[in-house]
Amino acid sequence: MKQVTAIIRSERLDAVKEALEKVECKGITVVDVKGRGEQLGIEEKYRGKSYRIDLLPKVKIVTVVHDEVVDKIIDTICEAAHTGHIGDGKIFVTNVEEVVKIRTNQRGDDAL
Ligand SMILES: Nc1ncnc2c1ncn2[C@@H]1O[C@H](COP(=O)(O)OP(=O)(O)OP(=O)(O)O)[C@@H](O)[C@H]1O
Ligand SMILES: [Mg+2]
Repeated sequence: MKQVTAIIRSERLDAVKEALEKVECKGITVVDVKGRGEQLGIEEKYRGKSYRIDLLPKVKIVTVVHDEVVDKIIDTICEAAHTGHIGDGKIFVTNVEEVVKIRTNQRGDDAL
């Protein structure tokens, strides 16, 4: 099993959620986060003075999926989150050792 963590633009959340409903995605966890990428935030002007906002609001989506569908999930998120502009976000993929479904005590792939 793989954990797919996507940091995306907040305004793309609905599109990504909708797209994930149509593929083999069993569950998602969504968190409001702040972050920065290689531009280190953005430069803003206020009353003629410029200052830097170094952490921008983003949304983090976490889903744990079967190994076979991880590429499909990545493609789905990329397509739904993409605008082509700086700050579209990133996807990180890690291995998941174990999953336990508390209600049934199922483990591993069956528990997703
Ligand atoms: N290397 C990283 N490690 C952890 N989080 C990251 C990393 N890069 C980006 N992020 C997270 O993803 C968010 C969006 O990043 P962003 O899309 O700006 O990346 P980027 O590398 O600057 O790409 P771009 O040039 O398209 O802006 C950041 O605000 C941060 O929360
Ligand atoms: Mg950036």
